Amino acid sequence: MLGERWCVSLLVPAATAIVLSAPAENARWGREGHKIVCEIAWRRLDPDGRQLVSDLRRHDPSETFADSCTWADAVRYTTHRHTRTYHYINVPTGRRGVDMERDCGHTTRCLPWAIRHYAIALQDRSQTGATRAEALRFLGHFVGDLHQPMHVGRLEDRGGNSIDVELEFASDCVRRNLSLHTVWDITFLCHAGITWPGSVLELDRGITQRQAASWGNFDVLGWTNEAYRLDEEFVYQLPAGGEIDPAYYDRAVEISRIQLQRAGVRLAFLLNAAAAGTLGFPD
Ligand code: ADE
Ligand code: ZN
Ligand code: ZN
Repeated sequence: MLGERWCVSLLVPAATAIVLSAPAENARWGREGHKIVCEIAWRRLDPDGRQLVSDLRRHDPSETFADSCTWADAVRYTTHRHTRTYHYINVPTGRRGVDMERDCGHTTRCLPWAIRHYAIALQDRSQTGATRAEALRFLGHFVGDLHQPMHVGRLEDRGGNSIDVELEFASDCVRRNLSLHTVWDITFLCHAGITWPGSVLELDRGITQRQAASWGNFDVLGWTNEAYRLDEEFVYQLPAGGEIDPAYYDRAVEISRIQLQRAGVRLAFLLNAAAAGTLGFPD
């Protein structure tokens, strides 16, 4: 997984390491991540799933299904402000996992809630095409967000948004003001050369049948806790000084890849079920 650029970057002396500080909290899993997830899902749709997506895309100006999956971030602070909390869920530090009552609440809606909500809206044929097309755009986006581990983060640092990181390397992917949240949204994928559409085939083909069978299910809370476990076991275990070293980077890229693959499989699973009218979320 070590890209050429990393090797070059190791030659950059530590003294020139770029010290970066926290960004605004609207950092998002970069457009690439969202498009990759939706493209993997598209490849895995059955004929009815493809028909559903193709039909609804007539209500949508974006060129491809993958393109439509970044729309939710564009409207989060503009026309659809009520959805701004739908992109994440945070857990108080020290808890063992997500508690929907505590962490999502009755009024502040959150990411796993939104996934169920828009999947159900998508399946509901009594809704207008425009409403269901919007539900499709949201669903494609939010299944991606749920698999970026920092979108299921700790409350105290708002999913890594208030943790500054230092990177040992410089490249086109490294910008000023990077937080732990943003490096997981954008920097690791960028630095590893994981792009849309270039990386889609390779990521999709890397999914074994056994993985696909075990990942595809309706256990959205389980997916959420899986992301939270990744945070606790790895993401927050930063090297001393918050400096991202090669070992952390390598593991981060590995995790990012498998999360993109899981997200693609799970999105396809939900879309196929919505097309078949067989969505079956647990109570
Ligand atoms: N705002 C607050 N917490 C957040 C999180 N975990 N991800 C994205 N935006 C947030
Ligand atoms: Zn983000
Ligand atoms: Zn988002």
